[in-house]
Amino acid sequence: GTTLKAAAERSGRYFGAAMGRDRLSDSGFLTIANREFDMMTAVNEMKPDATEPNQGQFSFAAGDAIYNWAVQHGMRVRGHTLAWHAQQPRFWGSLSGSALRSAMIEHINGVMAHYRGKLAYWDVVNEAFAENGSRRSSNLQSTGNDWIEVAFRTARAADPSVKLCYNDYNIENWSYAKTQGVYNMIRDFKARGVPIDCVGLQTHFTGGSSLPSNFQTTLSSFAALDVDVALTEADVTNAATNQYQGLTQACMNVPRCVGITTWGIRDSDSWRGSENPLLFDRNSNPKAAYSAVLNAL
Ligand code: XIL
Repeated sequence: GTTLKAAAERSGRYFGAAMGRDRLSDSGFLTIANREFDMMTAVNEMKPDATEPNQGQFSFAAGDAIYNWAVQHGMRVRGHTLAWHAQQPRFWGSLSGSALRSAMIEHINGVMAHYRGKLAYWDVVNEAFAENGSRRSSNLQSTGNDWIEVAFRTARAADPSVKLCYNDYNIENWSYAKTQGVYNMIRDFKARGVPIDCVGLQTHFTGGSSLPSNFQTTLSSFAALDVDVALTEADVTNAATNQYQGLTQACMNVPRCVGITTWGIRDSDSWRGSENPLLFDRNSNPKAAYSAVLNAL
């Protein structure tokens, strides 16, 4: 039979997963990862608190362990993430204004220098919008509204070879205010030449609601701005087959949708573990949603 990665590769796409460093000693996880996936994201190990625990002291051992395993097994790697309101180094909490802005720039420069030329994508900025479509308030936002474009310009200069993404959740429904807020920022960046290559839609679907019927419209609307789109952290309450089938079909129908990543492999890997939201069960067996995705690729 075929696999997720083989099916995705038929159309030039990838099929990705996320893993923590602890999974490197989990043979059940590694067997499926190696068989089915060709893109890997670190769940926590490349976040700001992990990579720069103290100012100017960078820590790459955990991220490198995941990176090296993935590359040795023929996968590419998505970097996640450089600037975010959550999982920040503790020292960011005692900075503000120009000092915090400088710390963000130095963080991007330090981490991207280490991974220069090695990664396929970087989530440069994660979750910067509020549900009402305005900017989310955060210490980074308080350094000035231009913090996001400064992050992207810094990133482009630090590694011109990697695709630079903005990543967020609840931006799948085209009629949602947050989706429009992100869309307007990307359109503005493109109009003004701020470097951005892709939009990541986390695609954490909840609650038995059906897939937003306009999800494909969202993907094609972003793509029309001349950015790639990707589903970067997909998981679905109870792994509803219709939602997994629909999100896969939406990506397949949009040429600039470059790939799908699920946030873990087995339900036991998930941050939403009690919702059993992934494609494999706790015994490493593929679920009905696996077949739904595979058949839609
Ligand atoms: C989650 C991880 O899976 C957890 O292990 C961690 O405790 C919190 O972060 N959006 C994101 C991811 O962009 O980084 C988050 O990952 C899930 C929500």
